[in-house]
Parts: sequence; structure tokens; C-alpha cells
Amino acid sequence: MNNRIWRIARCPVGTDFAAALELAEERLAPLEDGQIRIRNSHLSMDAGTRMWLTDREDGYQPPLPVGGPMTGLVLGEVIESRADGFTTGDLVRAFGQWADVSTVDAVMSGALRLDPAVADRRAWFGPLGMNGWTALWGIERTGAAQPGEKVLVSAAAGATGILAVQIAGLLGCEAWGIAGGAAKCAYLTRALGIAGAVDYKAQDLGAQLDRVGGVDVYFDNVGGPLLDAVLTRMNHYGRVAVCGLLANYTGGTRTAPREFDQVLMRRLRVEGFFSPDFMHEGAALTQRLRSWHEAGELVMPYDVTRGLENTLAAYARLFTGANIGKVIVELGA
Ligand SMILES: NC(=O)c1ccc[n+]([C@@H]2O[C@H](COP(=O)([O-])OP(=O)(O)OC[C@H]3O[C@@H](n4cnc5c(N)ncnc54)[C@H](OP(=O)(O)O)[C@@H]3O)[C@@H](O)[C@H]2O)c1
Repeated sequence: MNNRIWRIARCPVGTDFAAALELAEERLAPLEDGQIRIRNSHLSMDAGTRMWLTDREDGYQPPLPVGGPMTGLVLGEVIESRADGFTTGDLVRAFGQWADVSTVDAVMSGALRLDPAVADRRAWFGPLGMNGWTALWGIERTGAAQPGEKVLVSAAAGATGILAVQIAGLLGCEAWGIAGGAAKCAYLTRALGIAGAVDYKAQDLGAQLDRVGGVDVYFDNVGGPLLDAVLTRMNHYGRVAVCGLLANYTGGTRTAPREFDQVLMRRLRVEGFFSPDFMHEGAALTQRLRSWHEAGELVMPYDVTRGLENTLAAYARLFTGANIGKVIVELGA
């Protein structure tokens, strides 16, 4: 059986993914013990995977090897299994390959059998997946947000941020978001009904941030100059939950906060967090997220691109800010 699969030819420069990834057609090798084969119905596009497409060795995991397949979260049915606990027809999510068919070690890939009763399976990527876990953990545990506190989230109209602002609201906080452009800000305030939104691409960023008032918890997806702007507006004893550093992902640069002294001046706690560290709590996190989601209190718009051949265009949307909500590639007929 032949399989189309995206392979890494070289590390991308900026968002020029077409020069870095190539769509190959290959014969599938026989399964080994412990492996499952998944017919991917959906690929999850995640901004954090851009950090794996570099030659830096000091990331939270080694870079993906040049020549190897592009890896990411996939959703689909098991079509062949040599792993305990998985049978043909199971709906699963795993770290697989950007391909028509993923072949993975069931344990190493974190493969998880999913409840097919969930009406929209795409939710297993967004509210019930890594984005949901990350948003809930970052707001509640790392950010330690308390009812009545003011929570500000950057990249708030993206998959992780949209969930973070809603979860902050569900936990009784006053939720504010930062996003690029009027349409995204309108979505956050009108469709989601959060307290307010800041357009970081507008001229009057400082004045808009002043409108937020003192921030108790900053759920930061971006880093860079935005982090500096927020550090000077944090309340004393505030918390900065460092979820991601989008400002650094495509530019090949690293920025240090110029306003780092505010950590001392305002007695802030700044803490990074990373989803694999709390995967063991995934079932409990999913249960809470699912009850909100099924009650219609935690919503997710999907930004869908069809066809494996169009994956790179979908991926680029994360870095050009074209998306509202979860970017997904839908495969199959
Ligand atoms: N720590 C963890 O375990 C964990 C897990 C999942 C995700 N994350 C992090 O969560 C963040 C969001 O990831 P996602 O996959 O959910 O993507 P996403 O938010 O759906 O898409 C990325 C969004 O970021 C914004 N953006 C892109 N470049 C930017 C820049 N230079 N400055 C400011 N905003 C920028 C864009 O919106 P605008 O139009 O608003 O610019 C874009 O829509 C990433 O930092 C990712 O690494 C962390």
C-alpha cells in the first residue's frame, strides 16, 4: 500500500514551508510489534511544532531530523494493530505523521482510544485535546487564577488562547484577550463575550493595555515586546504563565524581556509549563473540559483546510495570524 507523507528536506526559513517540506509517496513497511497504523482523518496544526523545525538543540525536545517525516497530532481510525489494547476500527489520537496513514508505536506516540460518541471528533484536538489541557492547566495551575482576578491572554483568538479566555471566565475571572486585528477582537468580545480585547497591531497598543487595568494573571503565548508591555501593567504578586513564545518561532531570534526588573519590583512569579508534563492528568482534565464543552460553555471555531497536499498552507496560517480557532487539515474523501 502506498502512502503520501510530508518529509523534512531542510529547516524552514521563516514561513517558507514549501522550500523545506516535500510530499513523498512511499510504500508502507510491515507493522512491527507494538505499532498501530492509523488512517488519518484530521491533522492538528500546532504552532509549537515550529520549534521542532530548527537546528537548536536546547529546546524542550530535540529537533525533528532532516530527511524524517513531519510529526504532529493526528486523529483517525486504526486500520491495523500489533499493539495491545488497540483493534481495527478504534478511533484514536496520537503523535503521528503528516500523511494519509500514520504508523506509530502505540506507547511512544501517546496513542489514546477516543469515545466515538463525541458528536464532532475535531473536538479531540481542540477543547478535549492538548489545547484544552494546556489552557486549563495554564490558567488554573500555573497561573493560579482566582475568582474575581483579571486574566489577560495573548494570541487569544487562536486555538489555545480561545480556550484560555473562556476557561478564565468559567472559573470566575475577568477575562481579557490580545489578538491581531479588529475582526479577532470583535469575535472575542461579541461572540465569546469576554470582558475586553486588545488589538496588538493597532497604533495605540499602550493606551489599549492601560484600558485593561492591572493584570493578575498573564497567560502568555507570544513573549517578545508584548510581554514587556504587559510586565509593566501587572499587579503586585501577579503570575505570568509562559505557554509559548510565538514572537520567536519564525524569526530565528530570541528576545529577552527588557522589563524583567518588574519581576522584582512587582514581586511576580513567572513560570513556564509544557503539556507532556501533565499528560498523566489528561483523563481528569478531559472530563472537566468535556462537561463544559457539552454544556455549550466552551466553544471552538475550526479553521479547516481540505487535502493533505494543502497542509503547508494550513500550517502557515498559524504564523500569519489568518486563523480564528483551531487550524485543522481534513483528509479523506
Ligand atoms: N506549553 C504547552 O504545552 C503548549 C501547548 C500548546 C500550545 N502552546 C503554545 O500556544 C501558542 C498558540 O499555539 P496554537 O497552536 O494554539 O496556535 P494558534 O493560537 O491557533 O495560532 C497562532 C496565533 O498566534 C498569533 N501569532 C502568530 N505570530 C505572532 C506573533 N509574532 N506575535 C503575536 N501573535 C502571533 C496569530 O494570531 P494574531 O492574529 O493574534 O497574531 C495566530 O493566529 C503557541 O505559543 C504554542 O507554542 C503551548
